[in-house]
Amino acid sequence: MISKMLKRTHMCGTLKGENIGENVILSGWVQKRRDLGGLIFVDLRDRSGLIQIVFDKDISQEAFAKAETLGSEYVINIQGKVYKRQSINPNLPTGEIEIFAEELQILSTAETPPIYIKDDDDVSESLRLKYRYLDLRKPSMQKNLIFRSKVANVVRNFLAEEGFIEIETPMLTKPTPEGARDYLVPSRVNPGKFFALPQSPQLFKQLLMVSGMERYFQIVKCFRDEDLRADRQPEFTQIDCEMSFVDIEDIIEVNERLLKKVFQETLDITIELPIQRISYKEAMERYGSDKPDIRFGFELVDVSEIVKNCGFKVFSAAIENKGAVKAINIAGHGDKFSRKDITALEDIAKTYGAKGLAWIKVTEEGITSPIAKFFTEEEMKEILQKTNGKVGDLLLFVADKFEVVYDALGHLRLEAAKRLNLLNPDEYKLVWVTEFPLLEHDEEENRYVAKHHPFTSPMEEDLELLDTAPEKVRAKAYDIVLNGHEIGGGSIRIYSTEVQQKMFEVLGFSQEEAWEKFGFLLEAFKYGTPPHGGIAYGLDRLVMILAQEENIRQVIAFPKTQNATCTLTNAPSYADEKQLKELSIEVETK
Ligand code: AMO
Ligand code: AMP
Repeated sequence: MISKMLKRTHMCGTLKGENIGENVILSGWVQKRRDLGGLIFVDLRDRSGLIQIVFDKDISQEAFAKAETLGSEYVINIQGKVYKRQSINPNLPTGEIEIFAEELQILSTAETPPIYIKDDDDVSESLRLKYRYLDLRKPSMQKNLIFRSKVANVVRNFLAEEGFIEIETPMLTKPTPEGARDYLVPSRVNPGKFFALPQSPQLFKQLLMVSGMERYFQIVKCFRDEDLRADRQPEFTQIDCEMSFVDIEDIIEVNERLLKKVFQETLDITIELPIQRISYKEAMERYGSDKPDIRFGFELVDVSEIVKNCGFKVFSAAIENKGAVKAINIAGHGDKFSRKDITALEDIAKTYGAKGLAWIKVTEEGITSPIAKFFTEEEMKEILQKTNGKVGDLLLFVADKFEVVYDALGHLRLEAAKRLNLLNPDEYKLVWVTEFPLLEHDEEENRYVAKHHPFTSPMEEDLELLDTAPEKVRAKAYDIVLNGHEIGGGSIRIYSTEVQQKMFEVLGFSQEEAWEKFGFLLEAFKYGTPPHGGIAYGLDRLVMILAQEENIRQVIAFPKTQNATCTLTNAPSYADEKQLKELSIEVETK
């Protein structure tokens, strides 16, 4: 039987007391049906929300009979009149009213869904992802996707108004310089050759600057085959921008206004400009991280000077080996950490390479600590002074190479804050991290690699260090960090051929290698290149934080699982022999 669908007049969730007396036509899904003798109550759901529909035998025998057959998730179309409800439901935005149905069309029946369509259903994520189309019927997921669309619209409108041109760049391309693994696509017409999916549009957006586009943007998919985390997906979306005739300040200025607009229009939150800035060095020293969460303190304090000759060999040896001893003070919360809790923190520190976690508790009765015995009275006094240790505090120490100390304490301060419930999702703290090192030393390969990418410009004042102390050269690179997440990053690019050559030299690329990889860009730079720079935001991450979600998958319609698969479509899957043959590919294992 094919029912004739009546054209709907309203969305369910938008009806209010003022609609009482009106005739309405609604469409949607049956959330729930309750039979009470001569009355049947149905909660009808569409994207805007729920409303209660009443089927009364005395109003329409025919509609009532059909209503008796309704099951969960049936798709229906009703026509009826809005009435004030006898018993008001204060938990429902439409709880003041109900519709007495005069007509009912069943547009589609439904089998019992494998997951409940409600937010507090704690079904496993793998089942949710397998039936994602049902999962996306949940109000919270609909809210997230609507919110994401809004963020993207605000961004798009802002950038268009500021003179940015939206330009698409290829998906079938060559490897880009971000340094993750590529997703490769075999070319049928060029046997044995592969395209790479872009890790970002980096090289194309620079070419567009050579083309004279001046201001480019794109909301664009990027692909990186890397280990996944809560805030990482193999395919994700960037808000990607590039500008010509600019330096760092110009880029920061326009992006601060963009961020202000996004917060204002999506959350009605006014952020104060300018946004705080911190150098990479300071971020590492104070927070042990280049993406510091600055919503709370527990900053790192260096006690190396005090303990360099102390009796605790672990400490003195670390300093002798050119490392450091640093501490964080979990000020005022010492009593909330039992020995067992501290052992748990130590286990966490160890996952970041620390060999142990030394601690001092300052109590009314004095110092409690397994390492107190190693210090003189004077040393202990100085430690407490330097760390501002007072009664009620817990001091945590890591002694090791700088990187390990930063990594372990940087994560411990976050962990402590998490356990103490200090990470308030309603508080949004933005910070620019600037003056990144241009290069990193790759121990394994014993050579320098670009920290950002090989086209990032060094700071002019550090140029001469490229020959003498490359690791000290700072880059014109910046990240924007929100509540401890890197939501975006970019740089001013090299546009001088000499500096670019020098950079390749330091990176140990021969002329040929550089041309093989990026020749088309280097060639383009020969024909008149404007100074340029840009930034890219991770849209998924930004939306995740604004929507106060803990996982990026919550703001992506069809995300990949932790193993980079799609359980809905069962991708990736084996290719059939014929396809492989056409692509000149032989697969070794299956
Ligand atoms: P970068 O590599 O820093 O810079 O990427 C920019 C932003 O993209 C987000 N992001 C991710 N989000 C989810 N899953 C991932 N796997 C993932 N990887 C990155 C982050 C990051 O800040 N071309 C340069 C930008 C430029 O220099 O203009 C680039 O891609 O939020
Ligand atoms: P030990 O004398 O080795 O038992 O260590 C005494 C305390 O120092 C323990 O609480 C260890 O966890 C801690 N410790 C050991 N190595 C380090 C280190 N590298 N940094 C900080 N604390 C450490």
